[in-house]
Amino acid sequence: MPDDIDPQDLELARDLLSAADAVLVLTGAGISADSGLATFRGADGLWRNHRAQELATPEAFARDSRLVWEWYGMRRERAASCEPNDAHLALARLAAERDGVTIVTQNVDGLHSRAAERVAADRAGTVTEGPEREPALPLELHGCLFRVRCTRCDERYEHRQPIDASSAASLPSCRSCSSLLRPDIVWFGEPLGEAIEVAFKEAQQAEVCLVVGTSAVVQPAASIATVVDRAGGSVIEVNPEPTPLTPLAVVSLRGGAAEVVPSLVS
Ligand code: OAD
Repeated sequence: MPDDIDPQDLELARDLLSAADAVLVLTGAGISADSGLATFRGADGLWRNHRAQELATPEAFARDSRLVWEWYGMRRERAASCEPNDAHLALARLAAERDGVTIVTQNVDGLHSRAAERVAADRAGTVTEGPEREPALPLELHGCLFRVRCTRCDERYEHRQPIDASSAASLPSCRSCSSLLRPDIVWFGEPLGEAIEVAFKEAQQAEVCLVVGTSAVVQPAASIATVVDRAGGSVIEVNPEPTPLTPLAVVSLRGGAAEVVPSLVS
């Protein structure tokens, strides 16, 4: 455990989590840093000198869809080559074993879903009592790298094939109407889908909000923790650095997610 973490803080966080009937987990890019994926605002968050905030916009896609697809193709390859880490797996186990746990993520890397599927497969081999449970899938607020959306007919579906962004003509096209596909990602300036409404509803009821690896500067995701706090719940933060949510947190645990999260929830 990192030296900066006071064992009493860890104990308090563990007690709060185990006593709560409703737990909302909010994660950001930091949880996947320990799987080898760069965060957005970290030192290696640039791609060919482009910031994510410049490429993840409808304007950037309208201007140069090939460039934007090239970036997403690279991000898909990187995410597909990474594995869920101990933090993803510990949270997936928590959600599979207990009622009342909701995982809300800003990440588009699909690692929470892969962890949930892996945990469900492990449990299918070992848990023989009680009803069979579906994998506890996360609410993906900003979409998923491995889903696409048609720019014309709006059909959305899973898409895992490699992206050929060598020319505008080779970009992926819709299986129904052949028009240009785009990543099914919520870009800057676009409204969030219904996942955010579900997340805010859960936040009203949550007794604990465990916030892991987000700089908490992108709204409305960051305000999910504020809603929990205002409704009387406790906020626990896991992040090596302070964030705008730190003043709200009952406990802030300064360490990496893969090391700290399993010791909190297992
Ligand atoms: P950021 O890159 O803004 O923040 C990552 C956070 O993770 C920082 O607070 C780091 O201190 C922390 N961190 C780094 N390593 C960590 C580790 N090993 N364990 C735990 N925490 C660690 O990423 P997000 O907060 O996820 O939006 O960014 C929010 C949104 O902004 C993203 O979903 C994306 C981005 O632009 C869209 O694409 C719409």
